[in-house]
Amino acid sequence: MLSQKLQDAFNEQINKELYSEYLYLSMAAYCYEMDLDGFANFFMVQTQEEHFHAMKMFNFVTDCDGRVILKKIDSPPVEFKSVTELFEKTLEHERFVTKSINELMDIAVKENDHASASFLKWFVDEQVEEESTDKKILSKLKLVEGNGYGLLMIDQELAARVFTPPAATA
Ligand code: FEO
Repeated sequence: MLSQKLQDAFNEQINKELYSEYLYLSMAAYCYEMDLDGFANFFMVQTQEEHFHAMKMFNFVTDCDGRVILKKIDSPPVEFKSVTELFEKTLEHERFVTKSINELMDIAVKENDHASASFLKWFVDEQVEEESTDKKILSKLKLVEGNGYGLLMIDQELAARVFTPPAATA
């Protein structure tokens, strides 16, 4: 059984995960418009991951006899200057999500809610991976400095990304 405070915090986090899905879908749309289908694929896979994150929390709250309260999802930005800016914004957003997950973990620990803390550990680890992936792509983009050939190489690399439901590999 979740405390009211923890249930509220989980519901806030579900909203952030769904907003993340929306944000990356908007970024994918921008990439498709630029005919950078590999970059678009990266963000389409990311939207699937974010949906998975939201549903993983949805199911946990439900399993704990809690109540999921869905909130309004804000509109994501739609205009971007470059794919480099996309990854700057992505990294910034993931750092924000990491902070939020850490705050959620802090509440679980403070309340001695071992089930929630154990559940949230997966998200703590996931954020390390997400930030690392984004940082590496951003470094490559900075390295090629908008060079067309370099961009196409990164586009090709990102075209290979596929969504693998983490639960199936855990
Ligand atoms: Fe659900 Fe990208 O963190």
